[in-house]
Amino acid sequence: MSTELATDPSVLHPVNAPCTPDPGPIMKPDVEPEAEKPFQIRLASRVYRLPPYMFGRINQLLYAKRRADHDVIDLGMGNPSDPPEDIVIQKLAEAAADPDNHGYSKSNGILNLRREVASKYLKRYGVRLDPDNEIIVCLGSKEGFSHMCLALMGPGDTAIISNPYFPIHMHAVALASGSVIALEVADAQKFLSNIAYTCQHLYPAPKLLILNYPHNPSTATVEPEFYVDVVKLAKRFGFMVLSDFAYADVAFDGYRPPSFLAAKGATTVGVEFTTMSKGYNMAGWRVGFCCGNSEMVKALATIKGYYDYGMFQAIQVAAIVALRHTEAAVETQSELYQHRRDVLVDGLRRLGWTVEKPKAGMFVWARYPEFWQQRMNSMDFAMMLLDKGNVAVSPGGGFGEAGEGYVRMALVENENRLRQAVRQIGRCLEREAQAVSAT
Ligand SMILES: Cc1ncc(COP(=O)(O)O)c(C=O)c1O
Repeated sequence: MSTELATDPSVLHPVNAPCTPDPGPIMKPDVEPEAEKPFQIRLASRVYRLPPYMFGRINQLLYAKRRADHDVIDLGMGNPSDPPEDIVIQKLAEAAADPDNHGYSKSNGILNLRREVASKYLKRYGVRLDPDNEIIVCLGSKEGFSHMCLALMGPGDTAIISNPYFPIHMHAVALASGSVIALEVADAQKFLSNIAYTCQHLYPAPKLLILNYPHNPSTATVEPEFYVDVVKLAKRFGFMVLSDFAYADVAFDGYRPPSFLAAKGATTVGVEFTTMSKGYNMAGWRVGFCCGNSEMVKALATIKGYYDYGMFQAIQVAAIVALRHTEAAVETQSELYQHRRDVLVDGLRRLGWTVEKPKAGMFVWARYPEFWQQRMNSMDFAMMLLDKGNVAVSPGGGFGEAGEGYVRMALVENENRLRQAVRQIGRCLEREAQAVSAT
């Protein structure tokens, strides 16, 4: 039998050939596998495009310390440590006991949950949204955000992100084969003028602007007028906008984080992501929402329709109860974070650090002392605090080069533990500074 490929397709598929032709005697393949050659797993190039995971070293040491029974005060991740309200948990249990809630749910979320989100947007921001076309439920906002990037971005497309940035803002674009340009976020007016400059000078012009206020990690906030300018720029330069509004519900001293969607014309140019992870203490539940431009929402629905079968319905039912009945608890949670913020910032200031009090979010973004900045980068500084002080923080450099010289501390431990963390940091730095001076 010839091993050459036939060029005439009728030879391969003769019209009258029986459906299962007799294969004849079974022959051994003539290529024996080379036993000693290791099998190679070859990943897709998009995986290699991802930058190295910056928090790996810290996490490894944290894990080792925990296994060795060290009591580490963990301010590394913005993972809420308080539970949701009892009525929400009770509703989840009740809904989980209902046999009707165990099948596949709607991939874009049940209508009553989308209605509840529309009602919150109207009450809180005066924004009217159509639950059918302008709202979709996501498996946490990060999932929705990432798949939206997949729906919008491809090779040759550029997104503007902030510098420093929340890592997924870069990674989701990279995984979608797009590129990012990171612009300094600390000063909102400068950020806007840099966006305009980039749009004028980059070719092809950026396709997407990714915003995140209250900002993680830098805690920067904006006023509503900022979004009015964003919409003007988006229309002028033709870029779409993704607003990551993860910290919508966590704000202090009377500050009310504005919604991008409240700016006139916002739903023409973009969408906003919100979450129940932070204000409602439901991070593990994975409930987020994407709201705004109907074409973009539809594009996300299309991608999600292929990838997932929606969220466990019992969770959606309990999320409705949380949105409808626990607004007061969300306020109380913010007050709790505010007290923790005061304890931590005041403590660090007593140690001589220059730290601003954030107006919102779950973090303190602290510039560590000059003495240490001259000697080590934020990664080594964070490793030292963990190794010698038993306090875990996130190195600012892990969020982009504009984060160098900073550490991010999450307000996820109680006030006593935060006081203890400050004491441990103080002692650790004193000891280490003496050791440095002695050498
Ligand atoms: C800025 C920002 N966006 C999104 C997320 C992810 O939120 P979710 O739990 O809804 O996926 C976080 C979580 O830390 C965040 O800080």
